[in-house]
Amino acid sequence: MSQSPQINRSIVLASRPFGAPTPDNFRLEQRPVPTPEKGELLLRNVYLSLDPYMRGRMSDEPSYAKPLEINEVMTGGTVSRVEKSNNPEYLAGDWVVSRSGWQDYAISNGNDLLKLDDKFPHPSYALGILGMPGFTAYMGLLDIGQPKAGETLVVAAATGPVGATVGQIGKLKGCRVVGIAGGEEKCRHAVDTLGFDACLNHQQPFLAKRLAQACPQGIDVYYENVGGKIFDAVLPLLNPKARIPVCGTISQYNTTSLPEGPDRLPLLESIILKKRIRMQGFIIFDDYAHRYGEFIQQMSLWVAEGKIHYREQIIDGLENAPQAFIGLLEGKNFGKLVIQIAKE
Ligand SMILES: NC(=O)c1ccc[n+]([C@@H]2O[C@H](COP(=O)([O-])OP(=O)(O)OC[C@H]3O[C@@H](n4cnc5c(N)ncnc54)[C@H](OP(=O)(O)O)[C@@H]3O)[C@@H](O)[C@H]2O)c1
Repeated sequence: MSQSPQINRSIVLASRPFGAPTPDNFRLEQRPVPTPEKGELLLRNVYLSLDPYMRGRMSDEPSYAKPLEINEVMTGGTVSRVEKSNNPEYLAGDWVVSRSGWQDYAISNGNDLLKLDDKFPHPSYALGILGMPGFTAYMGLLDIGQPKAGETLVVAAATGPVGATVGQIGKLKGCRVVGIAGGEEKCRHAVDTLGFDACLNHQQPFLAKRLAQACPQGIDVYYENVGGKIFDAVLPLLNPKARIPVCGTISQYNTTSLPEGPDRLPLLESIILKKRIRMQGFIIFDDYAHRYGEFIQQMSLWVAEGKIHYREQIIDGLENAPQAFIGLLEGKNFGKLVIQIAKE
């Protein structure tokens, strides 16, 4: 069923996942399209961003953001058209970035929107390279990673919107860039299209040995997106004064307990101490909202000049969002995952 002018379809959190999410954690509901009051806008959502952080919102464990309630509309960034406006700041037809969630329509008072001007290259880019993931890559790498020409930078989830951007900025800064990705096709893309120096397929054996061979001078910046076995392979290769922006640990998002085995915390602490490593987590809009202007100016220029390549995977239909999201947490996406809810 496609978008209708009368019915608002929404996908709500039906139950909390235990481990990996399954389709029955989501439910499609239908209600009449809401009516905007004085000062409000009706938004028609066209593109919906699917992002790893949504897995955290489905759980009720303490985190940096409030969990979703059961029966609440799944959270998410959208690029939307203003369908009706009772707010003088917006006209019907304007493109805006909003946090409307997994649904066809939403009401906004206009305060939480970002208007896209006519020069914006493509509306959906506001969910990726010129939006939250691009901003995350830019600030995490440049502010915390502090890459310098000649250094070695390693990044996993290397063809996703964050990893691909991190690696390409690293190349612009003169680093040797080694990606880690799931599959030969992703690795070819990282080298042939994104310009990485090397990319290792983590689905093949002996990752630690192959990583050591790909980083003969050690690792100066490890941009952490994944955690788990990949961090284990990186740890012994870190150089003195290495920097680790801890952006995400996606390999752990579906786990239900800490891994069994020897306690490796003393090893980690001793390496951090002896090598004077700086490891810092960050949450992009909490920590860097004040630097959004700097990011958008620089990244828009790089994209316009063809210096940063951007790959999207666009899937049609709101009803396909749950399956696509489940796949994102298994590495099935190739590029920034976006749901096209309706025609522009
Ligand atoms: N701190 C922040 O403010 C912030 C903001 C945005 C994103 N993030 C984090 O940044 C990271 C990348 O985000 P993204 O939007 O660019 O996602 P993404 O790369 O499009 O998607 C996730 C990728 O992670 C890899 N992956 C998934 N499950 C995995 C597993 N179990 N083991 C190893 N790899 C796995 C897969 O890539 P391969 O197939 O290549 O392995 C998958 O394609 C995530 O950890 C996310 O939570 C943090």
